[in-house]
Amino acid sequence: MSQFESPAALAAALRSVDYLPDERIAQVAYLADALGKPILVEGPAGVGKTELAKALATITGRDLIRLQCYEGLDESRALYEWNYKKQLLRIQADEGSDWSEIAGDIFSEDFLLARPLLQAIRSEQPVVLLIDEIDRVEMETEALLLEVLSDFQVSIPELGTVAAKTQPMVLLTSNNTRELSEALKRRCLFLHISYPTPEREREILMARVPDLPAKLADEIARVARSVRAMDLKKSPSVSETIDWARTLLALGIEHVDAEVVADTVHVFLKYQTDIDRALKEFATSE
Ligand SMILES: Nc1ncnc2c1ncn2[C@@H]1O[C@H](COP(=O)(O)OP(=O)(O)O)[C@@H](O)[C@H]1O
Ligand SMILES: [Mg+2]
Repeated sequence: MSQFESPAALAAALRSVDYLPDERIAQVAYLADALGKPILVEGPAGVGKTELAKALATITGRDLIRLQCYEGLDESRALYEWNYKKQLLRIQADEGSDWSEIAGDIFSEDFLLARPLLQAIRSEQPVVLLIDEIDRVEMETEALLLEVLSDFQVSIPELGTVAAKTQPMVLLTSNNTRELSEALKRRCLFLHISYPTPEREREILMARVPDLPAKLADEIARVARSVRAMDLKKSPSVSETIDWARTLLALGIEHVDAEVVADTVHVFLKYQTDIDRALKEFATSE
């Protein structure tokens, strides 16, 4: 059961915290909540994947627990590790006493460092668990994450099995730098977020950049759309159009024309070849 009445109700809640979803985003988030399934959110950088998890945590009143993935991420960073330093101090403090007693002691909860997955599983209150940029970890680590997600339990040899007391809402994000396993995809609801329509981007800009005039937001969104249609190495993301809007506001610019674009293009394009190409296309389209 979802705590929201409908996808539309969830969309309204997201908008109230300045996250502007499209219909698909609201529908998938609603279903994830209703069916208790993880969401695999995929799409280019800077389109609101991470932000969606934060916004969902805010509107459900849950804590957000985030596991940022990177190459080389391992169990000790994702799940748990023993606090060796504390264990060592305990052993030193107790020199001479019975070893079996010490061993029982230092492999107890007090000496455990819970990392994000274990934290999410142990939490008394249901949380939102964000496994961010999962495409950055190796296949074996992905399999480990999958195992935890399927059972919602972690087995710690010295302690036994820790089963989830509450069910987290899980979001996994991917920037698509590699294919994810079929097994992972099977388990998740799939959500692709692409660049917003100019109408939605305009709303996002207005929500995220205080005092931005509607007309300027509109022009920025339109330019963004035409730039994204060009064959560039790296299209501008929503974060970059937000930066551009802030830049124009800071410079006191009220209207976007070819000259303004030429003067500020480096704020939303980050490769010189892209800048050259965009300026050329704008010059010929005038
Ligand atoms: N739908 C949206 N509503 C409101 N802000 C958004 C939306 N999508 C993107 N943003 C803005 O763009 C920024 C980048 O989004 P982020 O979630 O970090 O991107 P990524 O997809 O790379 O995780 C956010 O901090 C937020 O300000
Ligand atoms: Mg992100």
